[in-house]
Amino acid sequence: MTTKKNTIVLAYSGGLDTTTAIPWLKEKFSADVVALTVDVGQPGDMEETRRRAIQVGALKALVADGREAFVREFVWPALKAGAVYEGEYPLATALSRPLIARLLAEAAVAEGAFAVAHGCTGKGNDQVRIELGIMALAPQLKVIAPAREWGMSRDEEVEYLRRRKLPTPPAKTTKFSIDENLWGRSTEAGPLEDPWHEPPEEAYGWTASAADAPAEPTYLKLEFAQGVPVAVNGASMTPLALVQHLNTIAGRNGVGRIDHLENRLVGIKSREVYEAPAAVVLHKARRALEAITLAKEQQRFRDMVAQQYADLVYNGQWFSVHRQDLDAYVASLERYVSGTVRVKLHRGASTVVGRKSPHGLYAYELATYDKADQFDHKAAEGFIQVWGLPIKTQARRGRAAGPDPSRRSEETR
Ligand code: ARG
Repeated sequence: MTTKKNTIVLAYSGGLDTTTAIPWLKEKFSADVVALTVDVGQPGDMEETRRRAIQVGALKALVADGREAFVREFVWPALKAGAVYEGEYPLATALSRPLIARLLAEAAVAEGAFAVAHGCTGKGNDQVRIELGIMALAPQLKVIAPAREWGMSRDEEVEYLRRRKLPTPPAKTTKFSIDENLWGRSTEAGPLEDPWHEPPEEAYGWTASAADAPAEPTYLKLEFAQGVPVAVNGASMTPLALVQHLNTIAGRNGVGRIDHLENRLVGIKSREVYEAPAAVVLHKARRALEAITLAKEQQRFRDMVAQQYADLVYNGQWFSVHRQDLDAYVASLERYVSGTVRVKLHRGASTVVGRKSPHGLYAYELATYDKADQFDHKAAEGFIQVWGLPIKTQARRGRAAGPDPSRRSEETR
């Protein structure tokens, strides 16, 4: 038990930064290091990652399967809320960080650790998200960010491990910096740092280019219950299976590529290429269902809430009271957002081609131009008189933008 007093739980990805962090933390803090890897659907062999942590000196290496919790507790609320950062980014990386923070905090408490550590640098958003998560859930813990402190280049990190006769992770095979989970893939750096430069095909890993996508469209029937998807083409699916399924189908059709020049919380503009096939299709479909189930004022107001929600997720405030309040609004809003949306996937485009809901506000007898029409045309006349009254009054006082006031007749003065 005495060793536990000096334990640090490290969020371990298996990459060079967090691998170097294991001996670095042990030496600098004379501490035991417990590595925690969270599976949020990223590629890679978790067993191999675990082994690597032990090989470079971790006392223990834990792997947590966070995939179901990620979709149910983080992705679904954000989808329901319509959270898309700056109208482009469905927040894959940003949504995984609070889950990682929660699992880190839980492991630290279970291990009796005094600190947690993460591999984020000082330039990104993720340091903020993880640290605010720890502050919210276990404020007694110290947070250590080795890669923000040590100032080593990648070559120096390799050298650091070699000097200690420790194995180094396989060398990077890409010029990009990539982060992946079930909700999307983010690619930055390398040639993408020139915002004028079109992303090369090798920047993409999940999606076909529109040119290589099948010539025939794919149609999907997506069934929603209270703002979240529950079935595809009549087959009920778990949230995890549904997201995986849509990533495959939409990705194959070239859907889900996003080239975004975004505003980071730390004040930098950065260019990110995202692939989020399931997210793009699901946000679009949910919104289409809202158009038939919500009143106009609800639609207008919900867009403001969606933006608040997206900013809050991006900015690391997942565990805030503000989010609880927004969730309460969204739960109420989505009560009637149930029904089915038909989506066509074709050569990079996803298009909503049909929608229906048992709670629909679309009334055929009001909308139709045929003889089934029940709309009271005569009522429009009085309506327009009253609706137009303020603008008519403004015109009479010479204030409405209209004919040149110098040509106003005496009568209207
Ligand atoms: N810019 C995105 C965010 O802050 C994603 C960053 C992911 N990291 C990467 N190396 N691509 O959420």
